[in-house]
Amino acid sequence: MSQEETRPNQHAWSDVDKAPDTQAFAAYLDTLRGLDAIAEYKRRSIERLRLKPGQRVLDLGCGTGDDTALLAAAVGPAGGALGVDFSGAMVDESRRRWLNKGLPLSFEVGDVHKLDLPNDHFDGVRADRVFQHLAQPTDALAELVRVTRPGGRVVVSDPDWGTYILDAPPTPAVLKYHDLAQRQAKNPWIGRQLYGMFRALGLVELEVTVSVTTFTDLNVLERLGNLDAGFITAVQTGQLTEAEVGAVKRVLRERQDAGRFFGSVNIYTISGALPEAVSAP
Ligand SMILES: C[S@@+](CC[C@H](N)C(=O)[O-])C[C@H]1O[C@@H](n2cnc3c(N)ncnc32)[C@H](O)[C@@H]1O
Repeated sequence: MSQEETRPNQHAWSDVDKAPDTQAFAAYLDTLRGLDAIAEYKRRSIERLRLKPGQRVLDLGCGTGDDTALLAAAVGPAGGALGVDFSGAMVDESRRRWLNKGLPLSFEVGDVHKLDLPNDHFDGVRADRVFQHLAQPTDALAELVRVTRPGGRVVVSDPDWGTYILDAPPTPAVLKYHDLAQRQAKNPWIGRQLYGMFRALGLVELEVTVSVTTFTDLNVLERLGNLDAGFITAVQTGQLTEAEVGAVKRVLRERQDAGRFFGSVNIYTISGALPEAVSAP
């Protein structure tokens, strides 16, 4: 069994266009954006760019472009926001939602590992829940730094799946479920790694915020698909039997019916600035 087969389908975010139903990915992003904790860390991650009217800003891995639209509003007509995403379907969706709305923005397909963008170009660059899915996250951060001007700001937000928990008795099946769910995505521990990555690239004025996203409605998790994707993969790879999955789901449903369902995952937002260019004496 390959390691890839043991992971729930957060893995699909690395190449959305290969999925049979790309609209489901847009719906997933819309559902998440509706959660208070998600809206809160997003607001903070945009604030940390400290954008001013007239500036140029990049939203890397823009998804449906909703955040790109907020960035465009912040820099105003004299500035511009660019949304870049690896997925053509996501870029199409962004354009459908946000072009012709009078905002200074555009969207392009691109890979963060190799951006077709000039050096020192943007005043602010952000990537929101993208680094967990990247093959080479360190190279990708270096690429974000390359396209940011001296003194410009870089902000990255990502979960750390090692912090993902659901309240259920620690039976062997529940422990196995957590073990699998805590390893979802290519880089499940990226949240705790970002600070060191920013330091290693010489970014300054680092700030870290941890947001706890809580889930108190099992139906929301089911709608997101995370829960079932984890269970399906667990069964397909022989790590849980159908009976064990049934038992875990029953406990979670009992919690929900009793109004005490609870789960959480931490999302880390790291921001920093490129050192100002030193002018020659
Ligand atoms: C979980 S979504 C987050 C979307 C958006 N930032 C948000 O917060 O709603 C991750 C996005 O990163 C994009 N992505 C994945 N790998 C990428 C890469 N190598 N370069 C650029 N975008 C990538 C995916 O296509 C997807 O739209």
